Amino acid sequence: MRLDRLLSHVAGLTRSQAQRAVRAGRVAVDGALAEDPACKLGDGAEVLLDGVPVAKRAPRYLMLHKPAGCVCATTDGRHPTVLDLLPEAERGGLHVVGRLDLDVTGLVLLTDDGAWSHRVTAPRRKCPKTYLAGLAEAIDDAALDALRRGVRLRGEEEDTRAAAIERLAPDHVRVTVTEGRYHQVKRMFAAVGNRVLTLRREQVGPVALDPALAPGAWRALTADEVAGLRACGA
Ligand code: URA
Repeated sequence: MRLDRLLSHVAGLTRSQAQRAVRAGRVAVDGALAEDPACKLGDGAEVLLDGVPVAKRAPRYLMLHKPAGCVCATTDGRHPTVLDLLPEAERGGLHVVGRLDLDVTGLVLLTDDGAWSHRVTAPRRKCPKTYLAGLAEAIDDAALDALRRGVRLRGEEEDTRAAAIERLAPDHVRVTVTEGRYHQVKRMFAAVGNRVLTLRREQVGPVALDPALAPGAWRALTADEVAGLRACGA
């Protein structure tokens, strides 16, 4: 995050007051007088204003309903990003916790707490993720059983972990996986000769996409949701 932004978020200064404070030599970063209000702060940087530590802003945890056509990245030259859906003042320092493909919709988590996102995404913790998939072909029982047991994805050396799959219609399924391999769900259905046409993430661990959120909308996670995801798969 930029120094002037941190000062305005955390110390309650306006952006121009923050810039003046830096130029007046009132701000130190990691023991050295700051000169550039726009300088980028490293993780855990210690910032003093008039010799007093600027209290750390509480970490932020958000859920967002990702529409198709925006990317799960902080910047992208070609497409809008999920961060572009947030007001500018909310974006600083946030990153996406577990990406979705450009065409995939549904639940995306964002935070500035790296330790928390690591816990949610660490493969060994096996935090479950549930998707609704619309398929090109009706799926038969043999294919469902193969997917439940685990299938070999193209170019990989290990089968997928066991997955839970529920058939909702001949060509619609709800699938829960506990890994996050590249294009995992699409490649799983490709491995049984089918194709995913639409994919939407409904749930990560104990947290479901809030039905009140229209595509593009977001809200802060509740304390219970943050704690539930922290414990997820533990
Ligand atoms: N599986 C996919 O194929 N794509 C996603 O975005 C998420 C899971």
